[in-house]
Amino acid sequence: MNRGETGYETWLRYEEITDSALHTQYRAYFQTIEIKGNSPIIESAKEELMQGLRSLLGVTPKCLSATGEQASCLIGTIADVAEVSQAIKERLREEGYAIYSEKGRLVLVGKTETGVLYGTFHLLRLLQMRDHLHDLRIVENPRNQLRMINEWDNMDGSIERGYAGGSIFFEHNKVTNNLQRIKDYARILSSIGINAIAFNNVNVHEEETKLITRKFLPDVAKVANIFRQYGIKTFLSINYASPIQLGKLETADPLDEKVRAWWKETVADIYRYIPDFGGFLVKADSEHRPGPFTYGRNHAEGANMLAEALAPFGGIVLWRCFVYNCLQDWRDRKTDRARAAYDHFKPLDGLFHDNVVLQIKNGPMDFQVREPVSPLFGAMPKTNQMLEFQITQEYTGQQKHLCYLVPQWKEILDFDTFANGKESPVKSIVDGSQYDYKVSGITAVSNVGNDENWTGHLLAQANLYGYGRLTWNPNLSTEEVTTEWTRATFGDNEEVIQTIHEMLLQSWLIYESYTAPLGVGWMVEPGHHYGPNVDGYEYSVWGTYHYADCHGIGVDRTVATGTGYTAQYFAENYELYEHLETCPDSLLLFFHHVPYTHKLKSGVTVIQHIYDTHFSGAEQAEQLLESWRSLEGKVDSERFQQVLERLEHQAEHAKEWRDVINTYFYRKSGIPDEKKRTIYPI
Ligand code: GCU
Repeated sequence: MNRGETGYETWLRYEEITDSALHTQYRAYFQTIEIKGNSPIIESAKEELMQGLRSLLGVTPKCLSATGEQASCLIGTIADVAEVSQAIKERLREEGYAIYSEKGRLVLVGKTETGVLYGTFHLLRLLQMRDHLHDLRIVENPRNQLRMINEWDNMDGSIERGYAGGSIFFEHNKVTNNLQRIKDYARILSSIGINAIAFNNVNVHEEETKLITRKFLPDVAKVANIFRQYGIKTFLSINYASPIQLGKLETADPLDEKVRAWWKETVADIYRYIPDFGGFLVKADSEHRPGPFTYGRNHAEGANMLAEALAPFGGIVLWRCFVYNCLQDWRDRKTDRARAAYDHFKPLDGLFHDNVVLQIKNGPMDFQVREPVSPLFGAMPKTNQMLEFQITQEYTGQQKHLCYLVPQWKEILDFDTFANGKESPVKSIVDGSQYDYKVSGITAVSNVGNDENWTGHLLAQANLYGYGRLTWNPNLSTEEVTTEWTRATFGDNEEVIQTIHEMLLQSWLIYESYTAPLGVGWMVEPGHHYGPNVDGYEYSVWGTYHYADCHGIGVDRTVATGTGYTAQYFAENYELYEHLETCPDSLLLFFHHVPYTHKLKSGVTVIQHIYDTHFSGAEQAEQLLESWRSLEGKVDSERFQQVLERLEHQAEHAKEWRDVINTYFYRKSGIPDEKKRTIYPI
């Protein structure tokens, strides 16, 4: 079906090459192709290559199958391609590949079949980027072992925190019949190197609890079969209370023999349907979800019980560290939600089985536009860790606002934890190079739904793309990733590429400037989390979390006078954040309570900063719209219109943000804007 330019094709649209010299060069390399092997993954690689080349070159290359004739392009695993040098073989690790060319011939070898598939996408990317294919010497290995996506999809077809329509996996409490859409998603994910997926919500309600039963396992297996063809392993989120809800046991106590036996049987059953099942993703004892605390057990006991059931089959447990008491009373100004993950998990270091991985959100709170990096990274040398990002824009504009998160993720990945001395960045913890982790990696909550363009806001596709690419290689620069996406998605027009590139790169800071200031977080409507509400923290029964009064604002998290959270960091970062003089402006209100007249390092006062950034942020949102308008006629009309509508809304909504925030702080502080701009009384 020709879907036109709706955005459905994402960055895999493979726009035809018009440069005749390049076209000639490419055609020569793909005159004849030989692809060794015929497993399902190799078949996927073949299909991708043929489809991509047809679209890019306008011709169908000739495929040779062992005719003895030498093909101009040879593809296969190192086991199948005899001519690969020892040097290349030695450099390739699991899932890695090499692409090299000489004398008009191109060879692509993968260490495994999945490596062949990744190499194929890389090869197509070279064409999308209009790169030369002469004298290629590419050797690539993924930096992270687990490169994962979490869907927060419910079986009724809704998606928790989903902003792009309903689920592509479920409808009417069943697994969907639209397997083509799932296949297309698998292609998209595989093209950016994703190798694992959990496709039901971490909040496992009654219906989803049954996914691990025979009623649904045949359907789960259908989905897993599709993902397998693209090198992606399937996981399920489970309900910790399943033994009670499904097994009719009286308890879900992880040390109870009947419970242990029940999980073992259940797991064995799952593997009968899905022999390469990845394992379980678990949200326990958090936001009213059941967990081991109910039985007086700790999280190591809770996780290990599942790990034991999965171990004989090679399965793993992804155990989330988003564990906190959402009902806690913080009026003493010492109780602090930010402390929770570290307080719960750090004492358990070394107690988890080696097929358990702790899944840690990037920050100590909850995917805010700005928060510090979680101090738990690197703090548990004897426990596998992985990082969790949120691609879905729950707190960053819900795919109605443009907010490109790659620059934020880069900062987080590069953040030096000092866990193992200087140069222990987060990326080196989760890629397993810092400590001897058996399993580790990165995961993220998807931003995809059944909207025709997958992500609602077309430009939000860049977040999914960037996430995958960074997960494959966190050392790629923001510029590289952004250029790749923009070119693949919008074609060769330099003005278009330049404009969209700039819009993306500025958008996170623009969003930050008209929303919550200086790292304080939230300020969104409770429940759905969209739009401004300064006091609107969900669990505000105990008063505001930001402690704004007529004198000042911010949360004192110092050891000296506050909650003591800063002590959770290694010494260098503790020193940085503990003291007002060194704490970066961008996180000031996360770590300190200060008067509105406190002078920032930038030289302006806190209150003036709030006014200035909110005025300029709203103006910049308007400029994003203007930039896009300048592309009218240069981007196909359908996609142009889609983005235009979102940006128009954003520009308006940014003004609302500006007015609500500025008015609130003007009223609280009584301090007027130095520049005498109008602050609307709301
Ligand atoms: C946030 C989000 C919830 C989600 C939770 C989680 O609190 O608002 O919808 O369930 O994170 O990560 O488990």
